[in-house]
Amino acid sequence: MVTIQKYLAQNRRHFVEQLKTLVRFRSISTQPSHRRDVLACADWLARHFRTLGLNVKLYPTKGNPILVAQTRTNHAPRPHVLVYGHYDVQPPEPFDLWKTPPFEPIERGGKLFGRGASDNKGQFFAHVKAVEAYAKTRTALPVDLTFLIEGEEEVGSTNLMTFVKQRAKQLRADYVIVSDTGMFSKHHPTITYATRGIAALEVRVDGPSRDLHSGVFGGSVANPVMTLARLLAACIDANGHVTVPGFYDDVRPLQKWEREQFRRLPFDERAYARFLGVPFLAGEKGFTTLERRWARPTLEINGITGGYQGPGTKTIVPAWASAKITCRLVPDQEPEKIARLLLQHLRRVCPSSVRLSVTEGHHSHPFLEPPSGRGAQAAAAALKKAFGREPVFVREGGSLPILDAFKQNLRGEIILVGLGLPDDNWHSPNEKMDLNNFHRGIAMSAELLRQLGPPR
Ligand code: BES
Ligand code: MN
Repeated sequence: MVTIQKYLAQNRRHFVEQLKTLVRFRSISTQPSHRRDVLACADWLARHFRTLGLNVKLYPTKGNPILVAQTRTNHAPRPHVLVYGHYDVQPPEPFDLWKTPPFEPIERGGKLFGRGASDNKGQFFAHVKAVEAYAKTRTALPVDLTFLIEGEEEVGSTNLMTFVKQRAKQLRADYVIVSDTGMFSKHHPTITYATRGIAALEVRVDGPSRDLHSGVFGGSVANPVMTLARLLAACIDANGHVTVPGFYDDVRPLQKWEREQFRRLPFDERAYARFLGVPFLAGEKGFTTLERRWARPTLEINGITGGYQGPGTKTIVPAWASAKITCRLVPDQEPEKIARLLLQHLRRVCPSSVRLSVTEGHHSHPFLEPPSGRGAQAAAAALKKAFGREPVFVREGGSLPILDAFKQNLRGEIILVGLGLPDDNWHSPNEKMDLNNFHRGIAMSAELLRQLGPPR
C-alpha cells in the first residue's frame, strides 16, 4: 500500500484535471438534444478505461450506451467486485442561477463546481483512480473487477435493468460497490443501507375543446386547473398523510437497530430549515424529520402546468391542466401497486365534468440490506482509515433504480459508500464535488479493494 499511497499523493492534480475533462461533457440523459454529448462522454470513458489495461466494451441500448470494463480474469479464484456508477447528469437549468457555467468546471475553495461533479462523475471516478493506482504501481489487484457505468440513471435505468438480467452470469459478483449516495455530513463517513423507490405518474385533466373566454363561458364548464388542484389536494391531508387508500399497507416499520443508528446522528432541525431556506420543516405528522426522509413514503408534485403563463392577464378558462407526480417508496411497497392505487383513487375522486388521463412513468423498487456482511465491515474499516472517523449507518431518501435488479440477479453484497455532501447541490444550480472527499474516496477505494481480497 505504501507505493499506492505515494502514487495517490503524487497524482492529486492530475486526477482533478481528468475529472474536469469528464465534467465538461454535457451528458444530460433526459434531453434528446444532448444525445451526441452523451455518446462522446461514453467514448471518452471507454478510452480512459483502456489506458488502465482493462477489457472495455460499450454496449449500445435503445437509449444510452452501457460501459463494461473488466480485468482479465486470472485463474486463481478470487472475489469478484463490481463497481457501479453513472455518467449521465441532470439538466443544468435554470442557467442564470449558476455562478460559473455548469459545464466549465472550475475549482473554488477546494471544491470542483460543475453539473455532475458529485452526482455521479466525481464519485465513480474515485474508484477508477484507485484501480489506476494499482495498475500504475504494478500492485496486483486483490480481486477481479468489473466497472459497470451507465448513462441512464437519471431517467430510471430501464435499459440497464434488462441488461443486468440478460448478463447476470457475466456480471455476477461477490460484492457490488456503489458510490452514488451522500455522507451524513463531512464529519461522518457513511454507509447507506437503504434507498427509497419511486412510482412516477403524469395526470392530465381535459375540459373544453379549446381555451374559452372566461367572461362569456365562465360559469358553464368546470375549470381544468381548479379541478386538477382539487384532485391533487385530495391525495394528502392537512397532517401530511397520503390519503390514497392502501398507500401505507406494505410499509415495513423501522427496526430497533435502525432507531439506535439514527439516534447516533446529530440532527438540528432549525439549522436544517435554514439550510433549505424554509421558515419551518413540514411533513407527515408523528415522525421525525429523518424518519420522514428515509423510512416513510411520500407523494410529491414535481410540476404543474395549464392555462396562461405569460405576462399580464389573459381571461380564459383553460382547455387542460397537467401535473407530474412522484411517490417515494420504502420497503416493502411495490411501485406497480402504488401506481395502481393512486390511479384508482384519482378516478374515484375526479368529477365527470372533465376527462382524466394518467400516464405512468418509470418505476424503481426500494432497496434495503442490513449492513452486517463482510463487505459492510470492510467498507467500515476502509472509510475509517481514509476519513479518520468511525462511519455511521444511514438510510437515504433518494433512489438508485438499479439496486433491486442487482439484488435479484447478481447475488453479491451491495455496499453503498457515498462521497457526496449534503450541500453538493445535486440536481440544483452550482453542483460541486468536495475535492478532499474525492481524494479520500480514492484512498478509501484502494483500501476497500484490498480488504475485499481473499483473507490473508
Ligand atoms: N445519486 C442519486 C440518488 C440519491 C440521491 C441517492 C440522494 C441518495 C441520496 C441519483 O442520481 C438520483 O438522483 N436518482 C434519481 C432516480 C430517478 C430519476 C429514477 C432520484 O432519486 O430522483
Ligand atoms: Mn446519481
